[in-house]
Amino acid sequence: MKVLLIGSGGREHAIALSIKKSKLCTELLCAPGNLGMATLGQCFPVDVANPKEIAALAKSENVDFTVIGPEIPLVAGVVDEFHKQGMKIFGPTAAAAQLEGSKAFSKKFMKRHNIPTADYETFTDLQKAKDYLETHPAPIVVKASGLAAGKGAVVCQTKKEALNALEDMLGEKAVFGTAGKTVVIEEFMEGEEASIFAVCDGKNYLLLASAQDHKRIFDKDKGPNTGGMGAYAPAPLVNDKMLDRIKNEILEPTLQGMADEGNPYIGILFIGIMATKDGPKVVEYNCRLGDPETQAVLAVYGGDLLDLFHKAAAGKVKEIAKINHQKYAAVVVMASEGYPGEYKTGAPINGIREAEECGAQVLHAGTKMQNGVLQSAGGRVLGVVGKGDTLKTAIDIAYAGVKKIKFAGAQFRTDIGKKGLDFLSTHA
Ligand code: AMP
Ligand code: GLY
Repeated sequence: MKVLLIGSGGREHAIALSIKKSKLCTELLCAPGNLGMATLGQCFPVDVANPKEIAALAKSENVDFTVIGPEIPLVAGVVDEFHKQGMKIFGPTAAAAQLEGSKAFSKKFMKRHNIPTADYETFTDLQKAKDYLETHPAPIVVKASGLAAGKGAVVCQTKKEALNALEDMLGEKAVFGTAGKTVVIEEFMEGEEASIFAVCDGKNYLLLASAQDHKRIFDKDKGPNTGGMGAYAPAPLVNDKMLDRIKNEILEPTLQGMADEGNPYIGILFIGIMATKDGPKVVEYNCRLGDPETQAVLAVYGGDLLDLFHKAAAGKVKEIAKINHQKYAAVVVMASEGYPGEYKTGAPINGIREAEECGAQVLHAGTKMQNGVLQSAGGRVLGVVGKGDTLKTAIDIAYAGVKKIKFAGAQFRTDIGKKGLDFLSTHA
């Protein structure tokens, strides 16, 4: 099978490695790809926001099966375009991808189907949104309804912060453009978070390992939100009991609800969960794998990922045997100086080979080659993955790798996976 993989981040480098290992893969093409992906298959430039361009590339290269990494092409309708042209692809249609593309849609959907989530209200009018704060005190969460690259949710500890967030989104500044012109204000939920990944075929699903992301830039969850500074999998927080509740109260009603409404969900359903004292609740849905969770989740997946995606796309996920996760993986993201604000690029990077000699796997997210020198080229630069029989070994290997890698101003958290270790030690 000739496979086209769309995307260019650390997540896609990890997916590319798994696809390349598959017995079914005869050739891998990537678009736009990155330096890591370029070692696994030929890369082609493409505008990921343009479904027609992606379909034209798949057609001209005689691709048999296309896999989509990021949310932008899915929300823009790339799956619909492929179906129209009779080509095979794995992912939700634009209508189904609204679960991520519109928080106004997903919150309403959850309410209709009694799926546990924070109470909320949707607004397009600034004054009405401000008035709502009078009766709903902080802490409270203000979210842009549309896609905002993971930065559209503002957890507000004070009324002033909430007013500022509303001004930013609904006021003249419109910091998230049209994505912030509809705003969801929701109840603050207290608890630990986890990410659940279900590979869905419209009716049935197979769960990949659960994971825990680290969204804040600094240790102990301090500082602003980022795209994700590290992750580990599986997350001990998601024990069998919790997983049963997630399946029964959230995942299965979601798939049933989407099917009943004429939008069967085929693709990855990523559910951000808050483990509250009343049980698991949905923080958000995403219509794709997480970045950087994927780098850890796929490191512990023992099956053939391409076979899994291909069967799911054909409505046959039940034919895939369930894998028990025996191992743990952790990924530590190394980011550029200044990230998640304005950041510097062009710093020469050393030590990748030495990191790999420690047993770590180094995935590219934002790198470039200039005059034969590997340099930083994005906010998140590299993901360093460790794998082991225990969570502690996985974390230690990842950090042994991180220690070897040097670039000017490199930022990374030193506590990736600590919550998992703490959970294990208190629930032993
Ligand atoms: P989202 O973009 O909806 O995933 O939100 C980003 C992050 O904001 C989440 O991972 C949470 O840490 C936090 N968050 C979002 N919604 C809530 C909520 N209702 N209560 C508490 N924290 C939240
Ligand atoms: N790591 C969170 C996300 O991919 O949205």
